Amino acid sequence: MNLVECSRTSETVEPTRICVIGAGYVGLTAAACLSELGHEVRCVEVDAVRLAALSGGEIPIYEPGLDELVTRHASSGRLTFSDDVAGAMDGVGVALLCVGTPPRADGEPDLRQLGRAATAAAAAATTDVALVVKSTVPPGTCEALELFVGGHAREGVRVSVVSNPEFLREGRAVWDFFHPDRVVVGADDPELARAVAGLYPASWPLVACSRRSAELVKYASNTFLAVKISFANEVAALCEALGAETDKVLGGVGLDERIGGAFLNPGPGFGGSCLPKDLSGFIAVAESAGRPAEVARAAQRANDTSLVTLVAKIESALGTLDGRTIAVLGLAFKAGTDDTRFSPAVALVAELVGRGANVRAHDPIARVVEPNVSQVADPYEAAHGADALVVATGWAQYRELDPARLRESMTGHVIVDAVGVLAIEPLREAGFDLYGIGRGLVTSFAPVLWRPLEWMLDAGQPSEVSLP
Ligand code: UGA
Repeated sequence: MNLVECSRTSETVEPTRICVIGAGYVGLTAAACLSELGHEVRCVEVDAVRLAALSGGEIPIYEPGLDELVTRHASSGRLTFSDDVAGAMDGVGVALLCVGTPPRADGEPDLRQLGRAATAAAAAATTDVALVVKSTVPPGTCEALELFVGGHAREGVRVSVVSNPEFLREGRAVWDFFHPDRVVVGADDPELARAVAGLYPASWPLVACSRRSAELVKYASNTFLAVKISFANEVAALCEALGAETDKVLGGVGLDERIGGAFLNPGPGFGGSCLPKDLSGFIAVAESAGRPAEVARAAQRANDTSLVTLVAKIESALGTLDGRTIAVLGLAFKAGTDDTRFSPAVALVAELVGRGANVRAHDPIARVVEPNVSQVADPYEAAHGADALVVATGWAQYRELDPARLRESMTGHVIVDAVGVLAIEPLREAGFDLYGIGRGLVTSFAPVLWRPLEWMLDAGQPSEVSLP
């Protein structure tokens, strides 16, 4: 798929001069895609290494299609990079704040980078400006930010804060930018809302609302996705216990249009820099508002147990983890990205090493520095002499692994596919024992049948039914 070709839109927008603060996944994608829409974008990045890379034509993150857009618009002059907020803000009426809002140790969001970026932008503004918060923030942040930066603006310059949350997925960010399910704009002034909505083509579905509503759309969306995944993992565990077919069950559930099949894939738990953080943030906000988020909390607890369950599965398949050699395929938090932040695969590696296993890891693009882990360049090298192989990130290329070659390389015959990417039958035929999420040890059917039979009998009546 050529993401850039897919990104083209015939619709025109009124070209606007925009300052984008922060060139991470969100900021760099927004900057490049907004240039593609015809805007003049000045991107500010304070990290010297990142800025040097961008200025030298290098893209510091792996995001399919992004390099092409950045190269095109850096050379057309529509996209520039600098660390100079004052220069970039000169004469600009719209500034996108795309800085990180990482979780603090207590799970609440750390908004200091946002406060600093907004203050610098407000102080540098030479004309009335809308600071547009793209970063994910708790409801109330934009209103608080407007108060926070108000005193920093030059005399006669009005600084307003607008919420325009980002819904891009890493690994598909360019595609998602040009094919949004919705553009959400939260502003307290219809004129400002129109100005920000006008950055995007008019045909894109628009939700115009208050700032705290816009912020909550983002928080609630990520929380719901997290709930959906945790529920899928719970159903998968139940399928395993009942001897039901996980893929058929969740596939059947997802075919209901009211439910939908997306985000129903069981796995080692959700990770990344967004879902875990936003779920914690949602819970913290709900509690501070006196509305305990029971469903969100349950999803969080369930996610915490996913890794424990996976490790227990590997241990029971191997007898012990201590001294075993385990190949772990995949380190990124999901396929399609080099991002390892809050990656279940990395957490798995750490746990296996902590339990005495020797881990040899592979990932097509992600790199991590883990004590006692050798990261190799080839999956077969990872598998060489291994007692077990665990697929922890759903890279499609792992599906192409040759079962016979794996069988020859490995000492053991255990494969745990935590992300459901492998073709089962060829591996079974090659002599492997295959485990997965929702696919485990053979279940005895008697207890499964016993309960329904019991429920068919009148309470207190002696049973005349004998079980097979
Ligand atoms: C998520 C949201 O999907 C985006 O809409 C949002 O813009 C972004 O967060 C953000 O807040 O910036 P992202 O973190 O890139 O995007 O990753 P997802 O594709 O949502 O995956 C998150 C985690 O859930 C991964 O660990 C993934 O493997 C896991 N997952 C996803 C499952 O376990 N099962 C699924 O069916 C889907």
